[in-house]
Amino acid sequence: MEAATQPHETRVLFKDIDEPGLTSIETYERRGGYTALKRAFRDIEPGELVSAFEESGLRGRGGAGFSMGKKASFLPRGEMQKYLCCNADESEPGTFKDRELMFKNPHGLVEGVAIGAMAAGATKSFIFIRGEYAEIADRLDAAVAEAYEAGYLGENILGTGIDVSIVVHRGAGAYICGEETALLDSLEGKRGNPRLKPPFPAIQGLYGGPTLINNVETLMNLPHVVLNGADWFKSFGTEQSTGTKVVSVSGCVQRPGNYEIELGMKSRDIIFGLAGGMLPGRELKAWYPGGSSSPVLGPEELDLPYAFETIAEAGSMLGSGAIIVADDTVSIPHMALRTARFYHHESCGKCTPCREGTNWTVKMLERVVRGEATPMDLDIIASVQDNIIGHCLCVLGDAMAMPVASMVKRWRGEFEETIAQAREAGPMPLDAEPALATPVAVGA
Ligand SMILES: Cc1cc2nc3c(=O)[nH]c(=O)nc-3n(C[C@H](O)[C@H](O)[C@H](O)COP(=O)(O)O)c2cc1C
Ligand code: SF4
Repeated sequence: MEAATQPHETRVLFKDIDEPGLTSIETYERRGGYTALKRAFRDIEPGELVSAFEESGLRGRGGAGFSMGKKASFLPRGEMQKYLCCNADESEPGTFKDRELMFKNPHGLVEGVAIGAMAAGATKSFIFIRGEYAEIADRLDAAVAEAYEAGYLGENILGTGIDVSIVVHRGAGAYICGEETALLDSLEGKRGNPRLKPPFPAIQGLYGGPTLINNVETLMNLPHVVLNGADWFKSFGTEQSTGTKVVSVSGCVQRPGNYEIELGMKSRDIIFGLAGGMLPGRELKAWYPGGSSSPVLGPEELDLPYAFETIAEAGSMLGSGAIIVADDTVSIPHMALRTARFYHHESCGKCTPCREGTNWTVKMLERVVRGEATPMDLDIIASVQDNIIGHCLCVLGDAMAMPVASMVKRWRGEFEETIAQAREAGPMPLDAEPALATPVAVGA
């Protein structure tokens, strides 16, 4: 495998991330924190801010990659109660960037949320954080309290007459609550089920009011756009994917972790350069470019620039920016089964193609690894995925079907061999499946 040449990170969100004491407001302010908030609240009109965000080309970092500024512009102007919800649910397998951003720089998120809320005209904001991130939620609570104390949150902020409140809300451990409308239901105290769209949350969201929903990383970019301008932001990345991106790299690499890259960096440089490549003697076999819901790519796509448009042109998606790497010791049918089991377990069961389709897919993939399937069953698995994609109420169904379909199509020979081998020699015990992701420690 060809080695990468001297790749480097481009640190904007990670610039001060390892600064000792950054979680305290004193250190955060000493590093320039809350300067953007002061400028935004005192000197810039909300409409101007939204235009700057749109002009910067900043796309959502939570999965869909939609223009942040455009979404904010969909909220009606006027006096009605509006809301901002920060999506900190971060449950997509392989994704652990928001965790490090919030844990090490909670004030960076508080400042981003306050600026986003002010731009959207939202006086009430929520940070919906996955319940497992209990320690991070405590840090956010402490940062929010410090920001109130300093006058950056609350009523009549810095004497501008603008009010913004932030409440940190802990989720109860369901992946589906990361889907924006399920998140809203959960926040309202209901079971977290996706809602039918339209109406979109920008028009009718939390408690029926216009609501801006953005990912942690998206919002943490806002202070940088305010301070440096849209043109500065656009000077990073590609024409359609501006800025930097924190990429979580996990799986069979030597240095798993979060790396902040300029969008458009060659994927090979991320995997083999920053993340250290494969273990000695191993070869890259497959990689998910955007979390476990993205169609799986192979070594042929390693030279693709890592950007929304290029990964989409290759038939996959950049998603949450989580690269999961599998080397030549990993069994693709087992990887497909592990992926399908996750989405089957997390399906809310509200619509039939997802509820039944994820269940059938798991059952059929179990037949494959047990050697009970026939090659014709592979066609059936493929057709079940076809019947899920685009036919569900939310994209959780597609999130299983897209990677599974990509694996069955691309590695069909390996599926057939697995069936034949399992028939002859007996199946590999399911608890001996190769691990997909290496746990990553986030230091204090
Ligand atoms: C099943 C499912 C789970 C999701 N989980 C998350 C999540 O954990 N974090 C997140 O930011 N977005 C998640 N999303 C995407 C959100 O619905 C939404 O698009 C995103 O929060 C918008 O923010 P952005 O525009 O800043 O990316 C998920 C979507 C689906 C369908
Ligand atoms: S696609 Fe799945 S998770 Fe989404 S609403 Fe339908 S059953 Fe629920």
